[in-house]
Amino acid sequence: MALTKNLSAFFVIALTCLAAAQAATLNITNSCNYTVWAAAVPGGGQRLDPNQTWTLNVTSGTSGARLWGRTNCTFDSAGNGTCLTGDCKGVLECDSFGTAPNTLVEYALNQYNNLDFYDVSVVDGFNIPLSFTPLTNNCTRSVNCTANINDECPSQLKAPGGCNNPCTVFKTSEYCCMNTTCGPTDYSKFFKTRCPDVFSYPKDDVTSTFTCPGGTDYSLVFCP
Ligand SMILES: *[C@@H]1O[C@H](CO)[C@@H](O)[C@H](O)[C@H]1NC(C)=O
Ligand SMILES: *[C@@H]1O[C@H](CO)[C@@H](O)[C@H](O)[C@H]1NC(C)=O
Ligand SMILES: *[C@@H]1O[C@H](CO)[C@@H](O)[C@H](O)[C@H]1NC(C)=O
Ligand SMILES: *[C@@H]1O[C@H](CO)[C@@H](O)[C@H](O)[C@H]1NC(C)=O
Ligand SMILES: *[C@@H]1O[C@H](CO)[C@@H](O)[C@H](O)[C@H]1NC(C)=O
Ligand SMILES: *[C@@H]1O[C@H](CO)[C@@H](O)[C@H](O)[C@H]1NC(C)=O
Ligand SMILES: *[C@@H]1O[C@H](CO)[C@@H](O)[C@H](O)[C@H]1NC(C)=O
Ligand SMILES: *[C@@H]1O[C@H](CO)[C@@H](O)[C@H](O)[C@H]1NC(C)=O
Ligand SMILES: *[C@@H]1O[C@H](CO)[C@@H](O)[C@H](O)[C@H]1NC(C)=O
Repeated sequence: MALTKNLSAFFVIALTCLAAAQAATLNITNSCNYTVWAAAVPGGGQRLDPNQTWTLNVTSGTSGARLWGRTNCTFDSAGNGTCLTGDCKGVLECDSFGTAPNTLVEYALNQYNNLDFYDVSVVDGFNIPLSFTPLTNNCTRSVNCTANINDECPSQLKAPGGCNNPCTVFKTSEYCCMNTTCGPTDYSKFFKTRCPDVFSYPKDDVTSTFTCPGGTDYSLVFCP
């Protein structure tokens, strides 16, 4: 009885330590001179006035995750409302992805060979300049998209508060890569020439996905 109790206490403590040791910390900072409503799935969301930071702990093994920023939001005290860009079904604390256009950070932790994978993506367009930077484990490959995309956006892709990806606007096989093979287009090159590290069309992973050892912490900065 006592042994069982001690054993289960041991496992609870061991598992708690393991989870704490393996969780990654993401610092999300708003360096824009306007308010950004940061969004994370998993993670929720938080209003960030200029210079504010939201520290998010993410569980080891998390995959298919996204971080992005929302602009021009209004929420009531219950956290219901709308945003001009990046809206996630009208709630402050997102549990679904945002509406295009929104600049995305995509990541997966502790995957193949215990590596983290991350990229900055404009496959859902662009709304806020951002950078994503590993902070620990000697991993140094920072990725960003900080060009003035909103002002330079081709007229056909312009959207309120941002610049759409051509797939969102035209919904064709060529732009959305419904075929198994597809390549860059004039529109994807508009993004890629301005932001060489980003994922600019659905099959762009070769040049745009980066890795760090599992357990690395990261920083996302809006308007770095
Ligand atoms: C994350 O931000 C918090 C609050 O600003 C700070 O205390 C902490 O040192 C930061 N963590 C990293 C890894 O930069
Ligand atoms: C924010 O910065 C931009 C460019 O740096 C500037 O044009 C704008 O006036 C600033 N807005 C505010 C509210 O400070
Ligand atoms: C943000 O912080 C920087 C340096 O820490 C400071 O120069 C700047 O005035 C701050 N901006 C705002 C809007 O608080
Ligand atoms: C995140 O994890 C750190 C270190 O494990 C802990 O100090 C901090 O309280 C956690 N923050 C949140 C918001 O859970
Ligand atoms: C969005 O917010 C920014 C900064 O607060 C403001 O300058 C801009 O006019 C707003 N845009 C719209 C369409 O409301
Ligand atoms: C907020 O939205 C949720 C989900 O749509 C709803 O259940 C809740 O009643 C809303 N709260 C308010 C105060 O409108
Ligand atoms: C980072 O690299 C330095 C120099 O190469 C090395 O001394 C240090 O142990 C490394 N740290 C980690 C956490 O790998
Ligand atoms: C963005 O990335 C490019 C290419 O890696 C780099 O030259 C530039 O300094 C970065 N900019 C910022 C603000 O991090
Ligand atoms: C695949 O691409 C070819 C050539 O671009 C096109 O003819 C075909 O209709 C596409 N298939 C689908 C399913 O979109």
